[in-house]
Amino acid sequence: MTISRVTVKTLRKMKQAGDKIVSLTAYDASFARVIDEQGVDVILVGDSLGMVMQGHDSTVPVTVDAIIYHAKAVAPQCKRAMVMADLPFMSYTNPNQAISNAARLMQEGQAHIVKLEGGEAQLDTVRHMTRHGVPVCAHLGLTPQTVHKLGGYRVQGREEAVAKQMLSDALALQDAGADAVVLECVPVDLAEKLSKELEIPTIGIGAGRVCDGQVLVLQDMIGISSLAPRFTANFLRDGRNIPDAIKAYVDAVRDQTFPTDEQCFF
Ligand code: KIV
Repeated sequence: MTISRVTVKTLRKMKQAGDKIVSLTAYDASFARVIDEQGVDVILVGDSLGMVMQGHDSTVPVTVDAIIYHAKAVAPQCKRAMVMADLPFMSYTNPNQAISNAARLMQEGQAHIVKLEGGEAQLDTVRHMTRHGVPVCAHLGLTPQTVHKLGGYRVQGREEAVAKQMLSDALALQDAGADAVVLECVPVDLAEKLSKELEIPTIGIGAGRVCDGQVLVLQDMIGISSLAPRFTANFLRDGRNIPDAIKAYVDAVRDQTFPTDEQCFF
């Protein structure tokens, strides 16, 4: 049986049809295979690997080589899921640097789409990459690579000016060619406005059920992170094994029982 690969077109169609997109991180072959088999649509080789695999206290130390190392383990296992890889801190400070690192993630790491953090500062970079055929997912709200500038891991967009800027950034990123946008730690009202105004899908983490999809860090959703953020949930409970826990997460996103209000910011 041939399985058709999830692409950026699939994600758009899912948004139009109101079908929720499910995304989860993976950093190794064993988990990638199980996650793919359980029907996750987008497997993210996130720079969260700096925290959950390498033990750092932020994503700042992660290198392009480290993302490629993990993507190379993940990508061959994914028969259906689209593989997204993060461009890490300081790997996309200008369009040329960004496109050459994105090419490495796609050619060496076998990723299908790259993700980068930031709004208007990234417009030229996103335009350059998408014009050259690199699918791009943007990341707004809490952008962990800039944690030291933000002054900590906190909700973004509660102030009117910040919310307005995020909306204008999102629309501009879409115009620049972005294919999707991750919204991290954003109040539900703002996430809803963004999801309604954008044609591209929003994938939320701590941004409410209103987003077009959800993403979690694997170690958080199986309850083994040293400090699990409030917006996550442990699905490895009630006697479930790991494949069942991943399936429970997939089902909960699809039937919109995850996230609950407890995991949202208002
Ligand atoms: O690196 C990562 O895992 C991420 C998610 C938190 C969206 O960027």
